[in-house]
Amino acid sequence: AASPLRPCATLSNAYNETTELADIDWDNLGFSIQPTDYMYFMKCQQGGTFSKGELKRYGNIELSPCAGVLNYGQGLFEGLKAYRKQDGNILLFRPEENAERMKAGAERMSMASPSTEQFLQAVKDTVLANKRWIPPAGKGSLYIRPLLIGSGAVLGVAPAPEYTFLVYVSPVGNYFKEGLAPIHLIVENDLHRATPGGTGGVKTIGNYAAVLKAQSAAKLKGYSDALYLDCVHKKYLEEVSSCNIFVVKGNTISTPAIKGTILPGITRKSIIDLARSQGFQVEERLVSVDELVDADEVFCTGTAVVVSPVGSVTHLGKRISYGNGVGAVTRQLHASLTRLQMGLIADEMNWTLEL
Ligand code: COI
Repeated sequence: AASPLRPCATLSNAYNETTELADIDWDNLGFSIQPTDYMYFMKCQQGGTFSKGELKRYGNIELSPCAGVLNYGQGLFEGLKAYRKQDGNILLFRPEENAERMKAGAERMSMASPSTEQFLQAVKDTVLANKRWIPPAGKGSLYIRPLLIGSGAVLGVAPAPEYTFLVYVSPVGNYFKEGLAPIHLIVENDLHRATPGGTGGVKTIGNYAAVLKAQSAAKLKGYSDALYLDCVHKKYLEEVSSCNIFVVKGNTISTPAIKGTILPGITRKSIIDLARSQGFQVEERLVSVDELVDADEVFCTGTAVVVSPVGSVTHLGKRISYGNGVGAVTRQLHASLTRLQMGLIADEMNWTLEL
């Protein structure tokens, strides 16, 4: 039987008494896994509702070799971040958006999902239990990875009879090795990330397996990542392996419209709102790869990448460059978003949740 939920307040307080911060090199965080103390674990038996979860020591999990996730890819994940403020308080950024997106993804993938309340409680409990792993203000963030998997055994193709919801965390710094310096992309002309009617619009694990070949090839050639085109016309921008894309021309900022093949990023949505509130015209539409030639700036958005300036895009052997440094619009939007996420400015959008 599952052990009862351990009260998190007690766990985190115990940690605060023993040690304030984990003993790691906070000045050199990249985006790689640093095992922490606890993970959250909750199961849903046949019938479809999750019951009470619990915090467990972070570690390996046991799965049937027939688990739906291992055999038929029935899995979804989320990504969000916790920041430590100067005053020591902890901020989450729009966690209810992740909860809602996981529910929508679960519906597409025929999976049971935790309620918004269960998702939020699990995220808060996991963050507080691992508080000593949240980087000091200005040094990075705690990346939170909620994971929903078909853990029940299936042999024929069918939804798994049992689902497991996990939350683990890791302190992180910049996603790209370039840090905040511009990244360099290459347009992928043969392989596609998603198809109409497929699962490109939900955060299923298979979408990320599907980009590894093009991403590896891009990296081998010295690029930071690959930029995918739509698979029907092979002409319209979709997204990069782990982030959405924006094109700036004058006062207009354009980004591919959400139409089933593009991941509805929470950073994407936030940047659209911030840009509009700052007087930019933002267009969500089909963005042709040809528009890259005339663009003033290009940038990517995502929870992991935040707002990443693009220094060049190479398409059919031609390199389109966007100047030496970070463009003014990219810089402005990056600053507005990160100041808000870190609690350095008043949150007029009401997006942050203080723990
Ligand atoms: C995120 O930004 O949370 C992502 O999904 C990127 C991840 C694949 C590293």
